Amino acid sequence: MTATTTFPQASAQNLHSVPIDLGERSYPIHIGTGLLGAASSFAACPKAAQAVIVTNTTVAPLYAQQLQAALATHYPQVRTVTLPDGEAYKDWQTLNLIFDALLGHGCDRKTALFALGGGVVGDMTGFAAASYMRGVPFVQIPTTLLSQVDSSVGGKTAINHPLGKNMIGAFYQPQRVVCDLSSLATLPERELSAGLAEVIKYGPIADMAFLDWLEQHMDALRQRDGAALAQAVKRSVEIKAWVVGQDEKESGLRAILNFGHTFGHAIEAGMGYGHWLHGEAVGAGMVMAAELSQRLGLVDGAFVQRLTQLIARAGLPTRGAVLDAQDNAAAYLAHMRVDKKAEAGDIRFVLIDGPGQAIVRSAPDALVREVIDHCCCS
Ligand code: NAD
Ligand code: GLY
Repeated sequence: MTATTTFPQASAQNLHSVPIDLGERSYPIHIGTGLLGAASSFAACPKAAQAVIVTNTTVAPLYAQQLQAALATHYPQVRTVTLPDGEAYKDWQTLNLIFDALLGHGCDRKTALFALGGGVVGDMTGFAAASYMRGVPFVQIPTTLLSQVDSSVGGKTAINHPLGKNMIGAFYQPQRVVCDLSSLATLPERELSAGLAEVIKYGPIADMAFLDWLEQHMDALRQRDGAALAQAVKRSVEIKAWVVGQDEKESGLRAILNFGHTFGHAIEAGMGYGHWLHGEAVGAGMVMAAELSQRLGLVDGAFVQRLTQLIARAGLPTRGAVLDAQDNAAAYLAHMRVDKKAEAGDIRFVLIDGPGQAIVRSAPDALVREVIDHCCCS
């Protein structure tokens, strides 16, 4: 199901520009309406003989033509590579389609890649850009809420492995991010909710005033009110840019952005990629991580209840999936031991250490089992 927004569609309007400060790898994140079809959005992008748009079968018919026209102002040749759509295709075989196209078109090491789509397209295009001829420039043009507030910013690129989510990848920063809020008009309802999971996470880990704001504006966000979405994207990106600016390669602080993801990745891998949306798994995962925080005495029950209610209001699941009817907790634990934060098989959880503050630490298996038993549907 799709809905209309209150955004003006006719002309490009740059509402906000958030900088991400990474020294020579710094770049701007532009947030506005009508941006992806406007030539001016790409005037400062790296020059090259060829530009290659990487997109998928769902997004291409909606937006590839507009982007193609905008890029044609700056690049003599603009090509489009269209991938199959879905998390299940975030793999080696699909990644190789990008390399096939680049080599087939004789693309040189200055060729600029443009990722047009959600987080799956963005993560795969980024990884292709990191590795094609040992690195070509790329630009993120995220078209889902989730990719606008999270995956397009910060340079994490990856594909999945059957044994673990996002296990093969690289840190590789884009040259810029162009968030066109107008593209959210065509996003299915379920995908909008999935994006709200990554918006909500910024509250408990970093900014309780933002959590208050989300409680006041959740209905407007679900109705796609333009001003509310612009504010949610801007504040999310500001927090993410600040965290990544402190710890680009996740040697410490950046791990807090994975609040809800340790349990969530277990759901995604355990159910088979594509069954639960990433944001849905993060929604239930945040409830589980908050419950674990409570059992460790870090937050009280009222906080867990407040967060759970907001996640439910976003249209997200608040209970985890059953991965194994015999021993569900063992199935979660097995998946979580291959999480990238795990050290020597010791699972590291992002927990809430008092409202608005996160820590990364391990927890006794017995407590984790209790949480899984308490939080999963049977
Ligand atoms: P997605 O890329 O699968 O997009 C969701 C669906 O919406 C797809 O079917 C897509 O084709 C469709 N779509 C995209 N834009 C649309 C539009 N404007 N209108 C209509 N349909 C549209 O999923 P996602 O939620 O955007 O991203 C999830 C991925 O992002 C996961 O693979 C996750 O691991 C990754 N991720 C990465 C990071 C990071 O830091 N790199 C952070 C969070 C998530
Ligand atoms: N989405 C988590 C990160 O970018 O670190």
